[in-house]
Amino acid sequence: MNDYVAGLEGIPATRSNISFIDGEKGILAYRGYPIEQLAEFSNFEETALLLLDGRLPTEQELRVFDDQLRKNRMVKYNIREMMKSLPPSGHPMEMLQTAVASLGMFYPGSECLTAGEVCEELDYVHNMSVKIIARMPVIVAMWEQIRNGYDPINPRTDLGYAENLLYMFTAEEPDPFLAGILDTCLILHAEHTINASTFAALVTGSTLASPYQVVAAAIGTLSGPLHGGANERVVEMLEDIGSPDKVPDWLEKKLAAKEKIWGMGHREYKVKDPRAIILQKLMERLAEYRGGQISPLFETALALEKAAEARLAEKGVYPNVDYYSGILYAEMGIPTDQFTSIFAVARTAGWLAHWKEQLSDNRIFRPTQVYTGEGIRPYVPIEKR
Ligand code: COA
Repeated sequence: MNDYVAGLEGIPATRSNISFIDGEKGILAYRGYPIEQLAEFSNFEETALLLLDGRLPTEQELRVFDDQLRKNRMVKYNIREMMKSLPPSGHPMEMLQTAVASLGMFYPGSECLTAGEVCEELDYVHNMSVKIIARMPVIVAMWEQIRNGYDPINPRTDLGYAENLLYMFTAEEPDPFLAGILDTCLILHAEHTINASTFAALVTGSTLASPYQVVAAAIGTLSGPLHGGANERVVEMLEDIGSPDKVPDWLEKKLAAKEKIWGMGHREYKVKDPRAIILQKLMERLAEYRGGQISPLFETALALEKAAEARLAEKGVYPNVDYYSGILYAEMGIPTDQFTSIFAVARTAGWLAHWKEQLSDNRIFRPTQVYTGEGIRPYVPIEKR
């Protein structure tokens, strides 16, 4: 009998050349390029193409891809009508999963997979990826308007990916500095090896389901608080703490009750998540840009990180990507319950890169189990139970 490993910790689920983590050294690289360099020199569009195709694009290739993304931003009005019929109080991740799953009905094109054969046509994989990556932020931003009782704002083709997201979200001309920060956040969230949602995407993709279903499955998986949902809870937690001076007592109580500190700890990293280091710097740059006028949550977060280090470092528990990202999004005017949707927008590039990789050497996922139930026994008629 095979040994069972809870959470499949340390069990390789696939071979992949998309991203790499060294959790002891705090290294994350996409296609070999360190995350710090991508955050500094790349933009989301280029990073997405790098993830999908495996190499940095030429100027011409990037221009074509960027153009494709801009041209695919519009969504059919029936999608808007369907979104209007969803309860405004529903969680945006549930809306996003519903809307993305429905895209397949509005923008079909899964013939390449539905014949039961793996599709080897790279144009098909690329075109589907463009259709989805382009529309993800549009759907997320549309929902912000719709749930508040307004008609969504039309996307603009003269704006970059992050700029357009911010524009549609806030209904204001995007501040280039904030759009630049959002762009970096999207790069940081775009890919992270075989995490839970990417694994869900792989499993769904391995059945030759359509890429809309692949992304919808991944969105559902990302929504949980142990995965993408943690950044919402970080902000709620910092609000609950209130101020830096309350941190020590609050932390003691939480640890005594064996509760988790949101935004800390990671299965892969035993040091501070390299993305958290970059996000903290972005927060500092934003504070400088705003002349120090930023949310007091940042001070509380810094105090909690320091206090938690003294207690949790021995377990290798440090801030992860969710720790500072929520505070940044809040500073951009993005409501707390939309943080995970923004994460999903970015991660779609990674999910689809893994979908492409899975199709290139597909075998349906079908793991085994360690059965712990009853032995074979005779059925008992209801009157004899
Ligand atoms: N706060 C306090 N203690 C934590 C912790 C946290 N956020 N994360 C892990 N620990 C402790 C555990 O209590 C455990 O201690 P023990 O050995 O004394 O029992 C030890 O560190 C190992 O944690 P474990 O839960 O087994 O790690 P995991 O790899 O199964 O889980 C996470 C990883 C991310 C699910 C976990 O760290 C967590 O729940 N973090 C908070 C949620 C979060 O921020 N998720 C976003 C991830 S990007």
